[in-house]
Amino acid sequence: MMAADQTVHGVPPSLSAKVVGSFAYLTVRDRLPTILTKVIDTIHRNKNKFFEEYGEEGIQAEKQTIGLLSKMRNELQTDKPVIPLTDSLQDAECWNQYLQKHQKLHGDQESVSWFKSPWLYVECYMYRRIHEALWLNPPISDYDVFNEGKTQSFFESQQAVMTICTHLEGINSNIENLSKNQLFEHFDKLLQVSLWGNKCDLSISAGQDNSQKTSPIDSLVSLQPLILVNDSNTVWSTLISAQTHARSEKTTVRVDIVLDNAGFELVTDLVLADFLVSSGLAHEVHFHGKSIPWFVSDVTAHDFQWTIQQTMAANHKCMSKIGYQWKSHLKDGVWSYHDHPFWTQPHEFCDMAADAPDLYANLQGADLVLFKGDLNYRKLVGDRDWDHTVGFGTALQGFGPAPLCSLRTLKANVQVGLQPGQAEKLTSHEPDWMTCSKYAVIQFYSSKAEQKD
Ligand code: F6P
Ligand code: MG
Repeated sequence: MMAADQTVHGVPPSLSAKVVGSFAYLTVRDRLPTILTKVIDTIHRNKNKFFEEYGEEGIQAEKQTIGLLSKMRNELQTDKPVIPLTDSLQDAECWNQYLQKHQKLHGDQESVSWFKSPWLYVECYMYRRIHEALWLNPPISDYDVFNEGKTQSFFESQQAVMTICTHLEGINSNIENLSKNQLFEHFDKLLQVSLWGNKCDLSISAGQDNSQKTSPIDSLVSLQPLILVNDSNTVWSTLISAQTHARSEKTTVRVDIVLDNAGFELVTDLVLADFLVSSGLAHEVHFHGKSIPWFVSDVTAHDFQWTIQQTMAANHKCMSKIGYQWKSHLKDGVWSYHDHPFWTQPHEFCDMAADAPDLYANLQGADLVLFKGDLNYRKLVGDRDWDHTVGFGTALQGFGPAPLCSLRTLKANVQVGLQPGQAEKLTSHEPDWMTCSKYAVIQFYSSKAEQKD
């Protein structure tokens, strides 16, 4: 039996909390229990609300959910084996098969545990178990325990949201008269605004306020040197050649955005998507979100609709106008929202073609897929201990349904595609450069071009 932590055919081992002192170890030891404790507190704080809505049944559900979550926190902290899911939700079997696969790989059931198994797997599993604990307790099954934090982070970023909406409105009012160079400049800026929007996730801060307080446009110049890999020119040329091809073939250009966090980051993604369709660079944008509450701040269908509603309802002329425009993009089918269950499973994306062939085939219809955020990056490169100079294409291990680009601020110790010596230099100045969310990448790959490897 092959040990799970060996390099197999050039593929390095998965990051895991079994490496004492590693970022994965500290996450599982400290950050995940903190998040779980906050989840428990939130449910408890809402006890009266559950009572008002559902009477005694609501109180019972609150107690039982807290019981299940406390049990899980104990399993985590004492490194107990990962156990199968017991709810009857559609994806439960798939999760349980994944567990069996890992048990076989280890040849020992006991060793599939919170600290010994791949970090990516156990961290995803924790969010799925939170969902299970609620689901098993109607009438509060549908309660999004992260909703308060997501809502708050949207309101705390209001000034920045108004600034970015005003900026977009300024571009849109003159969009027909812009030269190709001017269009590129706007595209480049909005891509960077969307990139830095990823700083505002609530998982790295374990639920603490992490909203955008400064002007997202003014700060771009000073942030530029912190982009370690910047393939924005290639992303632009991919869009331009898709446009040329679409004109000659009388087809359309489609961009997919695999979303990450709600709050300010989602607004930056919507602004970028608006610019893509208003400028004619794309004709359709498909958004991909999560079907269950995930990693504290990730976008669900409710968050997506709510954000557009709030933007429309804002007491700010530009913001409200932009919000109505977004609503009509959705109504006209120019924009669409999708939430395939694969996005809330623990798989590396190289498994997608085999394990979610329908989603893979769907993404093949895109001219460009933008993957937002840290967790998507970890899944793209399999959350493995890659050498930093390994090409992005190699680390994707065959995943490449369409030309793709990761827009990610670094919050986990995995990064590929760097120049020789670049990582060493960063480490010597800032040992935590991979996890402090100060640095970022705009990293592109296309199997057609293979130019990045
Ligand atoms: O906890 C793991 C992690 O990937 C972090 O490294 C990061 O804090 C968080 O999850 C999610 O980040 P993002 O919202 O950018 O995917
Ligand atoms: Mg997230």
